[in-house]
Amino acid sequence: MINSSMTVREVAIELPQSTRLFEKLKIDYCCGGNRPLTEACNSAGLEVTDVLGLLEAASQEDTMEKSTLDFQGLSLTDLIGHILHTHHVYTKEEMARLDSLTKKVISAHGENHPELNRVGALFDQLCADLGPHMFKEERILFPYILALANAEAENHALPFAPFGSVNNPISMMMMEHDTAGEILRELRSVTSDYATPADGCISYRTLYAALAAFEKDLHQHIYLENNVLFPRAIELEVQLAASFQIATDFSPAAYRVMGISGFIEVVGLTLWGYELFANMRAGRKLEKESGWLKTVSQKLEITGTTKVGDVLARYPQSLEIFVRRGFTPLRNPVLRKTMARVITIEQACRREGVDIERLLSELREMPDNDHAHLAPLVSLTRIQHIQLS
Ligand SMILES: [Fe+2]
Ligand SMILES: [Fe+2]
Repeated sequence: MINSSMTVREVAIELPQSTRLFEKLKIDYCCGGNRPLTEACNSAGLEVTDVLGLLEAASQEDTMEKSTLDFQGLSLTDLIGHILHTHHVYTKEEMARLDSLTKKVISAHGENHPELNRVGALFDQLCADLGPHMFKEERILFPYILALANAEAENHALPFAPFGSVNNPISMMMMEHDTAGEILRELRSVTSDYATPADGCISYRTLYAALAAFEKDLHQHIYLENNVLFPRAIELEVQLAASFQIATDFSPAAYRVMGISGFIEVVGLTLWGYELFANMRAGRKLEKESGWLKTVSQKLEITGTTKVGDVLARYPQSLEIFVRRGFTPLRNPVLRKTMARVITIEQACRREGVDIERLLSELREMPDNDHAHLAPLVSLTRIQHIQLS
C-alpha cells in the first residue's frame, strides 16, 4: 500500500507504473529517489494527497484486465477503436518515453553492461518498424475494414480496395508482426528475462520493467489483430462479395442498387484514396530517414536482409521475378510503395514459403541496366523533384 512516508524510490519499486507519473510531474525517482514522497512533492510544488490520488488511479489502471473484454463479441468498429485507443496510443507513448530512458541507462551503465547497447539497438529497430506499421494500419487497412463494416451495416456493395483484397495488406501486417515478435524474443534473451543486475539503478530497473510491460502489451495487440480482427475482416469481405454475387444472380435489378450504393462508396473511397496518397507524400520523411533515397541510387548488394522495396526501386525489372516466384500482391503499386519498403526478402520468403536461395540467385543474376527505369518508379511516389544521383 503506497503512503506518503515511503521514499519515491520505494514507490517506484512497489508500483512500476508510478515512474510514468513521476516523469510527468518532474519528480526524480532515480538518483534523487531517496527522499520521502512528501518532501519530493513539496519540492515540486505539489500536494502529496493529490499525488497519492494519482498513484492510486495508476495502480487501478494496471489491475483493469483488458483481456476480460469479450473481443469476439465487439463489433469491428469497436474492436478497431479498442486497438487504436488502447494499444496504438500506449505503444506510441512508450516508444517516446523509453527512447530517452534507454539512452539514459546506456550512458550510465553501458560500460559495465555492454549488452545494454544491443538492447538500445533492438529497441530502436522495434520503434523504426512499429511506427510505419501502425501508420499503415491507421491510414490504409483499418479504414478499409471500417468501410467493410459500414457496407455490411448499410447493405452496400463491397467497397473498392486499391490493394486488391484485404488479404494482401493483412498478409504484410502479419509478416511485420512476426518481425516484431523476433525482436521481442531477442530483447528478452539479451536482458536475461529483464533481470536488473545487482548494481542497476532505479532507472535501469524501470527500463526493464517498462520493456517487459511493452512486450506484454504488444503480444496482446498482435494477438487481437492476427486472431480476432484480421480473420473477421477476411470473412466479411468474402461474405460481402458472395452476397452481391447471389443478389445479381437472383435479380439483375441488384445491379441498379449496386449502382447507387456503389456510387456512394466510390465517392467515399475516392476521398479516402486522396488521403491515402497524401499520406504517401508524408511517407517521404520515412524514406529519407530510412536512407531509402540513397539506396535506390547506389549499387545494391542483395541479401536476405535487403528490403523488397529497395530491390524494386533499384531494379524495377525485378518485379517480374518476384511475381513469378509467388509474390503476386506486388503487382499492386500501392503495396510496392508501402508494405514492400519495410519487408526484407528473408521475411517475405518465410511468410510465403518461397525458396530464398533460388530467389536471391535469380535476383543477383539480373543485368544492371536499369537506370532508365528508375525515374518512372520514383515519380510514382511524387518525389521526382529530388535529385537521386
Ligand atoms: Fe496495430
Ligand atoms: Fe499490427
